Amino acid sequence: MDTRRDFIKKSVIAGAALYLPIYLRQESHAAYQNLKTRDPKKALVLWYSQTGQTRRYAKLICCILQGKGLAVDVRDLQGFDKNLLPNYDFIIIGTPVFYYDTPANVVDWLKTIPSIAGTPVAAFVSFGGPIGNEHNSSCHLLKLLAEKGGVPVGRDAFRNIATYPTPTWNNPKQISGQHLPNAETFDQVRRFTADTQARITRGETISVSYELTLRESFQTLPLVWLNKKAITKHTVDPQKCIGCETCVKKCPTKAINPFKQTVDREKCLACFGCLNNCPADAVVMEYTGERLYGFPEYLRRNKITIMEPPELSTCSL
Ligand SMILES: Cc1cc2nc3c(=O)[nH]c(=O)nc-3n(C[C@H](O)[C@H](O)[C@H](O)COP(=O)(O)O)c2cc1C
Ligand code: SF4
Ligand code: SF4
Repeated sequence: MDTRRDFIKKSVIAGAALYLPIYLRQESHAAYQNLKTRDPKKALVLWYSQTGQTRRYAKLICCILQGKGLAVDVRDLQGFDKNLLPNYDFIIIGTPVFYYDTPANVVDWLKTIPSIAGTPVAAFVSFGGPIGNEHNSSCHLLKLLAEKGGVPVGRDAFRNIATYPTPTWNNPKQISGQHLPNAETFDQVRRFTADTQARITRGETISVSYELTLRESFQTLPLVWLNKKAITKHTVDPQKCIGCETCVKKCPTKAINPFKQTVDREKCLACFGCLNNCPADAVVMEYTGERLYGFPEYLRRNKITIMEPPELSTCSL
């Protein structure tokens, strides 16, 4: 059992580590297999998204590739049959950055996919920043895909509004990304898609190079554990709950049961997906005694409307 002193000590170390500067880059020159095609016909854009930012970019990429004549499926990783992966000749995966890394449930998922030998693969992340370890998180995705035979051909990171709930949501760093995504962000997505496709046509691959930071080495600290310690209450208000089960659908570990008002604290990943998606403000979470509110309420209170790329209104998804 950890004492209050242990908790404070770990919090201080974690806090200090996150602000230390970048030191090195570690180049990986893995010998990738040959690309199985330079002219992909059937692409898959796979996304994991809690609050819709990553899904928006995935859809935009899908629309761009469709415009280039490819048959494209855009799918939620949660519920996708991984045995279908070898049917595609180009795979792009996108996830948010959670806790300075690829979300743990996505890592577990990718570790058990079948061989995708020779398939061109690209990865992107969405992140709240400003320094979110986004580079390494996208490299982590490529590394996992390469372990299954995928051949890295593209990587990028798109910054947008942060979806990490705090009692007030008004941390200056959090607020600095409130206006994102904007037209430049969508241009970055268009460039990423075009460059990646052009690379495949030329038969080129990219090397996956991690940035070595002290922040990275301190990632071994139990950030999720620390947060779970700080979450002093996590339940469902039966008076407000409308039984829509959105929280269950969004929960990557099925830790929440809105009908019994319970959360399995062992299984919980502290991803805030239940809080951030509940349409009735019925998920009750307290952080060190202070009540949190979710992303829809945050947008409402700040009168924020998230910008949509124009392609989404014309392309068929
Ligand atoms: C639990 C949690 C942890 C997060 N951790 C980070 C982080 O370490 N670095 C970062 O830049 N953004 C972080 N964010 C912000 C998200 O990465 C960002 O808002 C992302 O675009 C959300 O994508 P989604 O809407 O597809 O879920 C975090 C958000 C949540 C909810
Ligand atoms: S998302 Fe909210 S309203 Fe819907 S079942 Fe869960 S707690 Fe109830
Ligand atoms: S119960 Fe835990 S793991 Fe499930 S959505 Fe809520 S915060 Fe995430």
